Amino acid sequence: MKDILIVYSSKDGHTKKISNHIGSILVKEKDVDVISIDNISDVDITSYNNFIIGASVRYGRHSKKIINFIRNNSKLFGEQYTSFFSVNATARKTGKNTPEKNPYVVKFLEATSWKPRRSQVFAGKIDYPNYRFYDKFIIRFIMFLTSGPTNIDTSHEFTNWDRVNDFAMNIMKDIED
Ligand SMILES: Cc1cc2nc3c(=O)[nH]c(=O)nc-3n(C[C@H](O)[C@H](O)[C@H](O)COP(=O)(O)O)c2cc1C
Repeated sequence: MKDILIVYSSKDGHTKKISNHIGSILVKEKDVDVISIDNISDVDITSYNNFIIGASVRYGRHSKKIINFIRNNSKLFGEQYTSFFSVNATARKTGKNTPEKNPYVVKFLEATSWKPRRSQVFAGKIDYPNYRFYDKFIIRFIMFLTSGPTNIDTSHEFTNWDRVNDFAMNIMKDIED
């Protein structure tokens, strides 16, 4: 058996970056593989003891592929250690930066009926220069309404990497217990 599989869903690469960062911490002590949900059929998930699943939010929801993956593996995930993190722009706001208070995390866990041992939410990145025309202006409008950055010439990263490090270290402790 292998120790940990990190599965991520990432449209613009930020959740992938966070997943790789968590992997780089855990790999000091454990066997870790990091894989996109798009390539999940390349691995035998029954050969892992622990799972970390990360997904970003786009237009109000996490990826359908991740939701289906969790639903389809509910038996396995009920038996193994699992943890979850969400990445979204709303989590940059105090009061919406915990799994209990972030509306996307609450909705996601209800929709999947999944009870990961540990959940977390990280503020993501607003990457205007790399967005398509339509997304750029919709996101800018949402940022305007929610007092976020509206300068479309630059990227804005909100992720608190200390919180990401703590999440990884807590998972390490959970697994070692
Ligand atoms: C098209 C688009 C839609 C988004 N919709 C939401 C949203 O509904 N709520 C939110 O909090 N953040 C939203 N975001 C912010 C993303 O969650 C954030 O940029 C995150 O870092 C993206 O991670 P990824 O690069 O792994 O996909 C959106 C971003 C984009 C580009």
